[in-house]
Amino acid sequence: MGNTTTEKQTKHDKENPVNFHPNKASVSSLLTKPQFSRKNPFLSKIKARRILNKDGSIKKTWHIVLDCPQMGLHPGDSIAVIPQNPKELVDAYLSRLGPVTIVHPKTQEEMSLEHFLTHHACLNSLSPRLAKHLAIDKARDPLTVITELDPQTFANLAQPLLPRYYSLASSFKRYPNELHLLVATFSYNIEGHTYPGIATNFLATTTEPVPIYPHPNPKFHVPQNDIPLIMIGPGTGLAPFRGFMQERGPHSENWLFFGECHRATDFYYENEWEALHDRLTVTTAFSRDQREKIYVQDRLREHAEELRSWLNRGAHIYVCGDAKHMAKDVEAAITEIYGPVRDLRKAGRYHADVY
Ligand SMILES: Cc1cc2nc3c(=O)[nH]c(=O)nc-3n(C[C@H](O)[C@H](O)[C@H](O)COP(=O)(O)OP(=O)(O)OC[C@H]3O[C@@H](n4cnc5c(N)ncnc54)[C@H](O)[C@@H]3O)c2cc1C
Ligand SMILES: NC(=O)c1ccc[n+]([C@@H]2O[C@H](COP(=O)([O-])OP(=O)(O)OC[C@H]3O[C@@H](n4cnc5c(N)ncnc54)[C@H](OP(=O)(O)O)[C@@H]3O)[C@@H](O)[C@H]2O)c1
Repeated sequence: MGNTTTEKQTKHDKENPVNFHPNKASVSSLLTKPQFSRKNPFLSKIKARRILNKDGSIKKTWHIVLDCPQMGLHPGDSIAVIPQNPKELVDAYLSRLGPVTIVHPKTQEEMSLEHFLTHHACLNSLSPRLAKHLAIDKARDPLTVITELDPQTFANLAQPLLPRYYSLASSFKRYPNELHLLVATFSYNIEGHTYPGIATNFLATTTEPVPIYPHPNPKFHVPQNDIPLIMIGPGTGLAPFRGFMQERGPHSENWLFFGECHRATDFYYENEWEALHDRLTVTTAFSRDQREKIYVQDRLREHAEELRSWLNRGAHIYVCGDAKHMAKDVEAAITEIYGPVRDLRKAGRYHADVY
């Protein structure tokens, strides 16, 4: 998941992101300066936001358009989003802990508990340190158990609220000064309380500027020539390939494997793929449209012979999305079809961005 950044409290972390000075420079003057960082994020405005799933879907996956300078980014890279906890969750904590002032445990800065809860603590799960302190299981409902704590102890032992990463789902060549994201929102229930995913729900609901900074991944960039590409991206793993296809040449050969729950409701950007039919083959795996689950790796196996022919002609494979199951299953399928993935990796022809 996105919680891979090491925690470093910075001067800006201490400030309320909503009080950051708005970026004064125009977007175009920023094009040459990739200076944005966690300490100095770009405050991006949300230009548009819509749910891609059709009525009746069990998913809520958003297409989000941010106002954004290029920041040295290319399809295959991600941005880091600095999220806030939702007000209702902050209020629920405040009503249990009290509206007091606390000292930030790392910076020693005094701040209201409300500010700390909004910007500095992860509120949708219990930190291992809090669970240990309370001698309880980490799977317990945080709102039930924090009533045992004084506010400063909570602040000392809370999990820091870290940035989350999102793949670029567009190319700056096609959409200058704009960045598109594909974001799957979710919530889950712990002992009767519903908790949101923090960054996904922040992106889906906020009306304030979104603090972002670049998170490049040069190993996952789209090749600058017409090498055939095999792109495997179920779910939000699809995001970078929309950006890739906005950069691929008219004579390039491209093959996309996409998987989601149902064709009728979850076929993201279907019209855009259709418009690219002269250079793009799309093979889909809608897992829940039939009794037996069908996943992208099943489709890879079905097309083994043609895939071997593409790979024999030098095709590169790009895989994006779930690391826990999908990436391993896809690797196993490619190994069966063509041989060890490590050989393709060594040759710089197997690229994975999985999370
Ligand atoms: C390089 C990279 C690129 C990425 N690109 C994208 C992208 O393009 N689109 C996208 O949507 N995501 C992407 N992600 C994932 C993204 O960074 C976030 O991890 C994801 O959106 C969840 O963030 P969140 O803050 O909403 O959830 P969080 O608040 O971080 O919650 C997630 C956590 O909730 C807990 N949890 C979840 N379900 C349950 C449950 N049922 N019961 C108990 N606990 C539960 C787990 O601890 C889980 O780790 C990417 C990640 C990386 C590393
Ligand atoms: N590492 C992680 O923890 C991680 C990574 C990605 C997404 N997620 C979470 O999952 C939720 C939705 O994510 P998403 O929208 O990107 O979709 P997703 O859950 O990745 O699902 C996309 C498609 O992949 C299928 N799938 C499930 N297991 C698979 C496997 N082993 N191999 C290949 N395909 C498989 C799903 O089928 P079925 O659902 O029908 O089985 C669905 O059709 C979010 O809550 C997100 O945070 C977590």
